[in-house]
This record gives sequence, C-alpha cells and structure tokens, in this order.
Amino acid sequence: MAKDPVRVLVTGAAGQIGYALVPMIARGVMLGPDQPVILHMLDIPPAAESLNGVKMELVDAAFPLLKGVVATTDVVEACTGVSIAVMVGGFPRKEGMERKDVMSKNVSIYKSQASALEKHAAPNCKVLVVANPANTNALILKEFAPSISEKNITCLTRLDHNRALGQISERLNVQVSDVKNVIIWGNHSSTQYPDVNHATVKTPSGEKPVRELVADDEWLNGEFITTVQQRGAAIIKARKLSSALSAASAACDHIHDWVLGTPEGTWVSMGVYSDGSYNVPAGLIYSYPVTCRNGEWTIVQGLPIDEFSRQKMDATAQELAEEKALAYSCLS
Ligand code: NAD
Ligand code: LMR
Repeated sequence: MAKDPVRVLVTGAAGQIGYALVPMIARGVMLGPDQPVILHMLDIPPAAESLNGVKMELVDAAFPLLKGVVATTDVVEACTGVSIAVMVGGFPRKEGMERKDVMSKNVSIYKSQASALEKHAAPNCKVLVVANPANTNALILKEFAPSISEKNITCLTRLDHNRALGQISERLNVQVSDVKNVIIWGNHSSTQYPDVNHATVKTPSGEKPVRELVADDEWLNGEFITTVQQRGAAIIKARKLSSALSAASAACDHIHDWVLGTPEGTWVSMGVYSDGSYNVPAGLIYSYPVTCRNGEWTIVQGLPIDEFSRQKMDATAQELAEEKALAYSCLS
C-alpha cells in the first residue's frame, strides 16, 4: 500500500543550497524511494519571485514522489503540518558587519521560526539546522521551542563527517564507502575536531584501523585535521560561493539516517543537545558520534579519548560556550 506523503519544510529554499536540496528530497534521496513528499518552501519577500521559479521547475521535473509544493513567504503556512524541517535560511555576513551583528540577525530569525514550528509543525517534527552559525542557531531554536523535544533539534555536521571520509579515501586510494566511523566533535566551524582514532577501512582481509593503514600520524594529526576544518573556506575560495551540492547531500544523509537508521556497526556525526557525555558541558549543541534506530539518535558511549583529542574537544566546546553567551547577549 502506498505510504501517506510526509511534509518537509526547507527554509531559505530560493538560495543555493535550497536549489540543490529540493530536487534531492523530491527524488526520494532523503526519505527513501517509496516515500511520497509534500515540499514546503519558505523564503523572504525579496526572494518570492525566485522561489516561485523553483516551484515552477519542481512542477516541470514531474517527480513521481512529489505530491505537492507549498512556496510561501508566510512562516505559519510554511511550518503547518511539517514532520521534517530543514532550516537553511539565514542572514549572511555582509561587508562591514561584526560577528555580533550577524549573530543578532540570526538569533532573531531562529527565535521567531522556533515559535512558528512549535505552534504549527506536526507533533514529533524533526528539525535540522543548516544555516550558520548552525550549532548556535539550533540552540536558540531549542530554547524558544520548549515543547519540541530536545531530541528533535539537531544541526548539520554530516558535511564535515563526509569531508573527513573523502580525505581518507583519497589519501588511501580506497572507495569512500569502505571508510567508516570518523567523528566530528563540536562546532561546525574551524575549531571542529575531525577524529580518526576509531575509524576503519574495509579491506579484503577485514576491517583495518585508519591509523594503521595511513601510518603517518603527523599527517593525521596535522594536515588532515586542518584540511577538513578549512574545507568550507577552500570551497568559497574556489567557487566564490559556499558549498551547496555537498551541503544539500549531507542534509539528506543526516535526515535519512536519523529517520531510517544507521547501518549496524556504523556511526555518523550529528550536532545534538549535549547531556554532558564525554565531559562536554551540558546545554550546548555539540557534534557527537551517534547511531540511529527507530527515528532516535543515541550518542555512542565509552570511546577512549587521548590527551590530544581531549584538548581539541575542549577547545571547540569553549568556542560553542562563547557563541552561546554572545547569542544570549543579543537577546537581551
Ligand atoms: P543563500 O544566501 O544562497 O540562501 C539563503 C536563503 O535564505 C536566501 O534565499 C535568503 O533569502 C533566505 N533567507 C534569509 N532570511 C530568511 C528567513 N528569515 N526565512 C527564510 N529564508 C530566509 O545561502 P546558502 O549558500 O544556501 O547557505 C545557507 C546557509 O547554510 C548559510 O548560513 C551557510 O553559511 C550555511 N551552510 C551551512 C553548512 C553546514 O554544513 N552546516 C554548509 C554550507 C552552508
Ligand atoms: C561550509 O562548511 O561549507 C560552510 O559552512 C561554509 C560557510 O561559511 O558558509
């Protein structure tokens, strides 16, 4: 029997990630090839005409799984009845703006969208924040949507996770699908800590640790980490635009695995509400290794953490605590 359609919200849908993301969702990349969807696309009034153009293209693409499109600049209409919300819309940093000015704009956007989601989304709606500063925008959304479970508010660090897999696969000249269990700890920023201490590669003679196969700790503790941390900036330098297709693809991976589960023996990285696991302060949206089952994520526990990792995990937590304080100062 055909499944009922799921309503999926994409905010900032007229932007460049939105343009890459909505066809992926309509093709079943996010929720599976047998799951019909109704897309809700939100943008702001100056982008309304462009948003309507995206809607026209979705109609023209005649996606069999796409059962409806709502394209709107009304946040209530956009949020009504959605079970998945991918928050891509935000205010970009413009010339001459201070960090605090950008934070202040985004805090007010996420505060008001939190209220709309809380009042109008379907019960148990799963939220993924992509717009930067992603972790802190997600935290503000959580604070201003107290009736949405903290388990349902996450941010995107899967792009960083996928970038780490990609770097290892290139270095070892192996299939990216044979590399698993890297970890992104902390913030989606240049302080994030990409950790390969528990990562493995599938080989003809079984799974082998990445550290053993690479056999170059200097590279793994140095250039590998900075390449992943700086990858977003490198894409901006090359494209004169920030990453879009890889960000859209990672957003699909994040929701796909959250809803449909992670494969046995595999974890992924998600920015989730910290409960103090791994001595990270509680009350931050911090990226952890997680497994997913029955639509719920669980932080992987008990991984040994060495001194090198501890310092890097603490540094990114410290940055998140400072961002949180800055965000709160914008609210007062
Ligand atoms: P973009 O500027 O092309 O698109 C953003 C869209 O958001 C625009 O269409 C804009 O009109 C819209 N918007 C602005 N305010 C809005 C509001 N209040 N409600 C709804 N829509 C609103 O940007 P992009 O390249 O698509 O990137 C979007 C965001 O994602 C940026 O913040 C970017 O830094 C971030 N990003 C995050 C990751 C990640 O891995 N977490 C990766 C890449 C980009
Ligand atoms: C990315 O990681 O590609 C983006 O977050 C970069 C950015 O600043 O938008």
